[in-house]
Amino acid sequence: MPGIELSKCVLITGATAGIGRALAYAIRQLPNKPQVIATGRRQDRLDELAKDGFETYKLDVGADRATLQKTVEELLARYPDLDTVILNAGVQREFDFRKEIDLDKLEYEMKINYNSTVILTTYFLPHLLKLGSLGRQTFLVPVTSGLAILPAPRVPNYSASKAAVHSFALSLQAQLAGTGVNVLEIIPPLVESELHDAEGTTEALSKIWMPLEEFVPIATRGLVAGTPHIVVGRSESMWDKFEKGKDEIVAQLFKA
Ligand SMILES: NC(=O)c1ccc[n+]([C@@H]2O[C@H](COP(=O)([O-])OP(=O)(O)OC[C@H]3O[C@@H](n4cnc5c(N)ncnc54)[C@H](OP(=O)(O)O)[C@@H]3O)[C@@H](O)[C@H]2O)c1
Repeated sequence: MPGIELSKCVLITGATAGIGRALAYAIRQLPNKPQVIATGRRQDRLDELAKDGFETYKLDVGADRATLQKTVEELLARYPDLDTVILNAGVQREFDFRKEIDLDKLEYEMKINYNSTVILTTYFLPHLLKLGSLGRQTFLVPVTSGLAILPAPRVPNYSASKAAVHSFALSLQAQLAGTGVNVLEIIPPLVESELHDAEGTTEALSKIWMPLEEFVPIATRGLVAGTPHIVVGRSESMWDKFEKGKDEIVAQLFKA
């Protein structure tokens, strides 16, 4: 399968921390030396990345649709060679449905994790399909989670948002087969990052998470190999038990 060793220009959302930032550093070291555009909201982090030689762009994936559309137009005007979009930005919140639920917080989590993934896909796709029609291989890379397959009840809405992105990725793969747009889903296990800072669980989870230096080479190898579902670490047993073969059934259903 074609992989990102063919990429000329890679944009990563949520590249100011954790998985996104570590992938940015790994991807620019690939033999094809792609240009990497690191995006996120925190300007101080973007400035550090710019100092390190990355292209940077301030992008809040929770912005309204018109803003996101304009942003994508601006990015494509500035980087016409953009052929790889890694949709990585995400947040995680805990909800206990035996207690009062902050529905604003809940809707925001779904908006960042799911809606923004679908909206940005919609705005980037015409460009990627056009490159595909000219014979270029292009890549859309949603980052889901092992919790997309087996939910963690402490983070029920997060798990549902990732299950939604996973389901969307399966449908996209079926629809885009043969167009030159390759959908490569990354399915991380619990990984070292800042994701759990908001709920104060980082210290406890740091005892069992996969270090970034272990995670990133596996994920990068999957991207280079063009693996449609890059299942890492503990996500593998969940994948084998509940998901294996589903993508082939979805593809058949679309063809039928
Ligand atoms: N770490 C894990 O255990 C784990 C496991 C499975 C899946 N994942 C997924 O991996 C992805 C990366 O998370 P991470 O673990 O690396 O967490 P992280 O260290 O907290 O990084 C999250 C990134 O998302 C960005 N972000 C958050 N809200 C944003 C917004 N509204 N607009 C734009 N960017 C936004 C943050 O940048 P700014 O704050 O600068 O905007 C940051 O760069 C997420 O989709 C997460 O769900 C993580």
